[in-house]
Amino acid sequence: MRRGPRLPLEELAPYLLELPDPPAPFDWTSVFDADRPVEIEIGFGKGLFLVNAGQSRPDLHFVGVEIVRKYQLFTATRLAKRGLHNVRVACGDGRLFLRDRVAPASLHALHVYFPDPWWKKRHEKRRLFTPEFAFECARVLRPGGVLHFVTDVEDYFHMVADLLKLQPALRPLPPPQPGEPAHDLDYLTNFERKFRKQGKAIYRARYERGEAAS
Ligand SMILES: C[S@@+](CC[C@H](N)C(=O)[O-])C[C@H]1O[C@@H](n2cnc3c(N)ncnc32)[C@H](O)[C@@H]1O
Repeated sequence: MRRGPRLPLEELAPYLLELPDPPAPFDWTSVFDADRPVEIEIGFGKGLFLVNAGQSRPDLHFVGVEIVRKYQLFTATRLAKRGLHNVRVACGDGRLFLRDRVAPASLHALHVYFPDPWWKKRHEKRRLFTPEFAFECARVLRPGGVLHFVTDVEDYFHMVADLLKLQPALRPLPPPQPGEPAHDLDYLTNFERKFRKQGKAIYRARYERGEAAS
């Protein structure tokens, strides 16, 4: 990975969200020492979204969940170098994180960008979007909260749309229309940058949580 070595763990510690055992829903005010809306990104990879979002929205708190430890540490290094204290990164399975560690109706937004589609039958168990995950998305968003989903895989996009249709609490919003990037870090995520530079099609959706229970 580019951009220099990661910082020592002592320097990263303020940005790492440890996962206590047994799991219980986080009280975000004690994680961040302040009460602001919380947004979660699942599968943040090299962390471009969290870095940009943390910088541009100091009025919000962001939590990233990533299953690969080296990406957690890489992104924590990016956060620490910029002093972005409104962002925390956890290492774990985003499906279990939502189910076991996030209280109902507690999130302002949920971001899922370019999840691996895991099409092959033998890999299906690793797929992020399942009927259970769609239910969790609806459960954790507060009324008016928004799920942002972007993928480069058209079939996966339609499969997710079909799953989310079964959640009566979620209603589709018009998809976002991204502008032209002004510089090399002005992209939604690292994968978005890669695919836009390749001229690949990108499928974007947003869903708002209404008042109805799922
Ligand atoms: C294709 S990459 C996209 C990374 C980033 N969202 C982007 O757009 O640049 C998918 C990421 O999701 C992570 N991931 C896969 N399954 C996950 C899970 N169950 N929970 C959390 N992260 C997961 C992978 O390790 C990888 O970093």
